[in-house]
Amino acid sequence: MNFEIYLDNNATTKCDEQVLNAMLPYLKEQYGNPSSTYSFGKKVKEEISNARNNIAKLLNCSENEIIFTSCASESNVTAIKNAIANNPLKKHIITTKVEHASIIETMKYLESMDYDITYLSVDTFGRISLKELEDSIRQDTCLIAIMMANNEIGNIYPIKEIGEIAKKNNILFHCDAVQAIGKVKIDVNEMNIDTLSMSGHKIYAPKGIGVLYVRKSIPFIPLIFGHQEKNRRGGTENVPYIIGLGKAVELILHDDYRINFKLTELRNYMENEIKKNIDNVIIYGDLENRLPNTSSIAFKGAKADELLLLLESFNIFISTGSACNSEIAEPSHVLTACNADLENYSPIRISLGKYNTEEEMNTFVKKLISVVNMLRRKNNEYVE
Ligand SMILES: Cc1ncc(COP(=O)(O)O)c(C=O)c1O
Repeated sequence: MNFEIYLDNNATTKCDEQVLNAMLPYLKEQYGNPSSTYSFGKKVKEEISNARNNIAKLLNCSENEIIFTSCASESNVTAIKNAIANNPLKKHIITTKVEHASIIETMKYLESMDYDITYLSVDTFGRISLKELEDSIRQDTCLIAIMMANNEIGNIYPIKEIGEIAKKNNILFHCDAVQAIGKVKIDVNEMNIDTLSMSGHKIYAPKGIGVLYVRKSIPFIPLIFGHQEKNRRGGTENVPYIIGLGKAVELILHDDYRINFKLTELRNYMENEIKKNIDNVIIYGDLENRLPNTSSIAFKGAKADELLLLLESFNIFISTGSACNSEIAEPSHVLTACNADLENYSPIRISLGKYNTEEEMNTFVKKLISVVNMLRRKNNEYVE
C-alpha cells in the first residue's frame, strides 16, 4: 500500500515545505550564534527578530513580549511558575479539569506543595461555567489558567469573558492557546490574556519550539536563567526552529484564517457521511463552539483502541485522544470530566489538517464503515 491518510493533526502536523526551506540555510551556511558581535551572527539575529515580529502580529502584541522556548509545555510551566513567584502569599489557582497534561501535572505538583487548586468542572458537552469561575475566586487566588481550545474534543472556550473576569478581580490569566493558533483569531489585549503559550509542531513547524507571550506590565522570573531572550530564557537560541516557526506564522498571517472554511467543510462532510451510514454514533464536545478540524466520535459496540488498530492496517492514522496519553491505558480525563459513557461509546479523535482532501475523507469513511461493522459483528454484545 503506498498511501497514508494522516488524521491526527492535533497530535502533530507535517512540517510545511516552505517552513523547511526557510530553516535549511540556518542548519547549513548560516550557523552563527546570534549573540556574537561579528556580522555572521548579526544576520541570524535579524532573522530571529523577523520571526518574533510575525508572532507579535499574530497575537497583536509587542515583539518584546515574545519569548522563545523549547515547547508549549515549557511555556505553560514557566507561566505558572511566574504567577506563583509574583504572588508568594497567594496559594490558590483556578484551572479546569480538561487542560493539557503540562498544566494538570504542574497543578498536581503544586498541590503537593500546599497550593489549593480549583479544577472547574465541565458539563456533558465539555463546557465550563463562567458563574462557577466567578464563584471560585478567592482573596488568595493568584492565577486563572484556562486553555483556548481543547486538544481532544476541540471545544473553544470563552476566553474574552474569562479575561474580563480575571482583570476585574486583578488576577493573572494564563491561556494555553496551542490548539487554537491558526484557527482562532487571537488578540491578547482584547482578550485580557496576561500570558499565553503556543507550539510550533501544531502549525506545520517542527517539534521542539514554543513561544511564551508575557504582558510587559508583568514582572517576569525565568524558568531557565541566562542572557538570551533579554534575560528571560537562558540557552543559545534554537535558530533554525525559530526561523521555521516565524515562517509558519507568516503563512498563517497570509492565509488569514481562510483554511477554516476548508477544514469545516471537510469535517462536516465526513461527520455527515458517517452519520448517514453508521447508526448509534455520538460526537463529543460543544458542537456550536468547536475547532473546525476536530471530531471526537464514538460508535456503540466498536471500541476505539480496536478501531485504531484496524484503521492503521489500512495506513489511516487517527488517535483515541491526547497524543501524550496514547501509551497510558487510562480513560481520557477530558471525557471522564464530561461524564461520557466510555464503556459503550469510546471515541476516536479525528483531527484534520491543511493537507487533507475530500478524496481522503471518502476513503476514510468507507474503511471506517467496514471496520465498525466488522467489530460490531465480532463483539456481538452490540444489540441494535
Ligand atoms: C492543548 C495543548 N497544550 C500544550 C501542548 C504541549 O505542546 P508541546 O508538545 O509543544 O509541549 C499540547 C500538545 O499536545 C496541547 O495539545
